[in-house]
Amino acid sequence: TAVDPASRPVLAVDQGTSSTKALVICPERGVIGSGSAPAPPRYGSGGLVEADPALLLSSVVDAGRLALADAGEPVAAVGLANQGETVLAWDPRTGEPLTDAIVWQDRRAASVCAELAPHDEMLRELTGLPLEPYFAAPKMAWIRRNLTREGVVTTSDSWLVHRLTGEFVTDAATAGRTQLLDLDTAEWSPAALDVFGMSDERLPQVVDAAGRFGVTTSFGDDPIPLTGLLVDQQAALLAQNVTEPGTAKCTYGTGAFLLAQTGARPLRSGTGLVGCVAWRLDGRTSYCLDGQVYTAASAVRWLSDLGVISGADDLDRVGSSVADSGGVTFVPSLAGLAAPWWRGDAKGSMTGLGLETGSGHLVRALCEGIAAQVVALADAVAEDTGTPLEALRVDGGLTRSDLLMQTQADLLQLPVELSPLPDATALGVGALARLGLDPGMTVERAAPRWRPQKVFEPRIGAAEAAERLGVFRTEVAALVAALPAAG
Ligand code: G3P
Repeated sequence: TAVDPASRPVLAVDQGTSSTKALVICPERGVIGSGSAPAPPRYGSGGLVEADPALLLSSVVDAGRLALADAGEPVAAVGLANQGETVLAWDPRTGEPLTDAIVWQDRRAASVCAELAPHDEMLRELTGLPLEPYFAAPKMAWIRRNLTREGVVTTSDSWLVHRLTGEFVTDAATAGRTQLLDLDTAEWSPAALDVFGMSDERLPQVVDAAGRFGVTTSFGDDPIPLTGLLVDQQAALLAQNVTEPGTAKCTYGTGAFLLAQTGARPLRSGTGLVGCVAWRLDGRTSYCLDGQVYTAASAVRWLSDLGVISGADDLDRVGSSVADSGGVTFVPSLAGLAAPWWRGDAKGSMTGLGLETGSGHLVRALCEGIAAQVVALADAVAEDTGTPLEALRVDGGLTRSDLLMQTQADLLQLPVELSPLPDATALGVGALARLGLDPGMTVERAAPRWRPQKVFEPRIGAAEAAERLGVFRTEVAALVAALPAAG
């Protein structure tokens, strides 16, 4: 008898900023294989953050093949998650890249944003996004003005999918990270394209997050259908089962991203968050609010590069050598401040240093700096939705630091619920791959069952949390006040 394809394992690939991770996921046995491959970006002056497209692609293929070899079983489908706002120009006839990939953290499109500033209000209303070089469209326009007018210019997912299957598509949520998507219709917006001077561009077809997106032989001899596609943060949202309005998750990866589900209603944030597409399934769009901390693991890497710690695994050892941050306040905005401040031009700051300051204090100050920014995002969600969060679900590599997670619970004054697997993004896109194989399946059935592995409860009182947050906010305010007036 024929095996039901929906009961067979799927390959889930998460192409992230620093590496690609892949899991082979079986509906009954869970994760049965895993693989990863590095894909680090290059950092340069003037806010340059670039990645080699060939490395992005080879990391997808390598991580996928490693996971399949680890599992030792064939898969029925593959799902792919992407970084969101990373863009490149490429030749649609040959698939060859025409530029490097300009990574979401890159700041060079600030010039485009300054020029288009009079359109900010209209773009916010139309797309849910503020005019900021973080998003894809300013970067696409920057590429057109400064690098090449040849070929197509797209987010990295469209290029990767083209190289894997020959198709020319992007899912609605990734398209929503460009600032070219009409938030209400989840279709390309001619008005937004016009503002960015991109009306003549050939754009990928906007597709659902689950469906049939071609077939790939990149992972072995057997052709595998590509049936799941979603931007990484939204994939983690799905995996963390944040499908009900009022629930939220934060993924601590290269950056930290807090997303809250808002259901079928597209919401324009009044607090500086981003209103965006969570996913489109069966033509129906669900929405979320999104807030960003641009540097989480990349701030940890920075501290490691300075020799303060040996890596993310070392945070807890070094941080627990002292009881507190010793009066040090670290605003780790090393790639600028995102929501709700939107000062991408901000640099990081560290204050309260003394001769007695040791590495443990710096580590604790970093954890507080990341956690305090996440609190600002959770507060903004509560204000926008009118409902305070009751807990925060967390995933991503940095959630393996008990120190960071306890600090988060303390400052947030809420339970922090730890995902059993840090790789929620891959689990989410794996669920979509399964859904794409079997259109009869519900998203609830396809999504992994969610139960926290551990819950961090606040260990300090509300007054102490408020005091520590107050100190952090004062530092951020001072840092922002020292910047030139926003354009
Ligand atoms: O918006 C960029 C973000 O989605 C990248 O995620 O996991 O690579 O930090 P990550």
